[in-house]
Amino acid sequence: MSKVTVVGAGNVGSNAARRVAESNLADEVVMIDIVEGLPQGLALDINHSAPVVGFETRVRGTNDYADTAGSEVVVITAGRPRTPGMSRMDLLDVNSEIVGGVTQQIAEHSPDAVLIVVSNPLDEMTYLASVVSGFPKERVIGMAGVLDSARLRFFIAEKLNVDPTSVEAMTLGSHGEQMVALPRHATVGGKPLPELVSEEDLQQLFERTRGAGGEIVGHLKKGSAFYAPAASSAAMVTAILADDAGEVLPMSAWTTGQYGISDVYLGVPGRLGKGGVQEIVELELNADEIAQLTEAAEAIRAKCQELDARRS
Ligand code: LAC
Repeated sequence: MSKVTVVGAGNVGSNAARRVAESNLADEVVMIDIVEGLPQGLALDINHSAPVVGFETRVRGTNDYADTAGSEVVVITAGRPRTPGMSRMDLLDVNSEIVGGVTQQIAEHSPDAVLIVVSNPLDEMTYLASVVSGFPKERVIGMAGVLDSARLRFFIAEKLNVDPTSVEAMTLGSHGEQMVALPRHATVGGKPLPELVSEEDLQQLFERTRGAGGEIVGHLKKGSAFYAPAASSAAMVTAILADDAGEVLPMSAWTTGQYGISDVYLGVPGRLGKGGVQEIVELELNADEIAQLTEAAEAIRAKCQELDARRS
């Protein structure tokens, strides 16, 4: 019986739970939140959509971690979102308290789970979850690359007026300032992107992608993006549950020498399946791309060292 838990019944958590349920790959999706009634009400609402949408997965809302026991995958969305003017890093203190506490409970009740961290600042919260859980690193990953890449793919599609699914593009590095775009590897309908878009337009597309989360916060004023983050999180869950070992997704994963980088969580392409990351895929990067990736890794490493110092 496959069970997925989503921690946090906010906009990202509840939409991720809904999407996982709709994929019909799990027997049960448990949604847990500290607010009484919220996950229960939302779970009931999602369940009511089952006959219309067509899925058999049952969603259960709870405030009790005992109900999450034995989960195969756990998505951690708990924490505060940004408000206008805030960077993701401004959430480091408040969200490390929340994510640390949640991870402890989850690790106790689901010692074999794969953890997918969605809370911000993403790469640092993923590191924290790995330390607090003590899980093998391949079982703790962060969701950012699927989202950032999707945003980039959409902006490219919009610019060229093509179907977004015909655009392949990946962002690596951090979920933030050191996001690394890889134009040489991007394609539209199989054609290399640099042949279709000017260098100046490429730069604008990447800049907009890098700031896309902030652009949405600016519009919403309260809270941050959730439809695309939820869809991206659910895509990682379904890649694990489906376990077809074919899908390479960008994710925050623990590096062990790939691209010359070690011992830090960083946005890299990885193959996901049962048990988490099966392989980190090494694309052919040039010296400039490696330098950008290394810069992102060092920025994340420095923040994680700050976290370690505060916790000790
Ligand atoms: C964003 C938040 C979820 O990028 O980090 O929208």
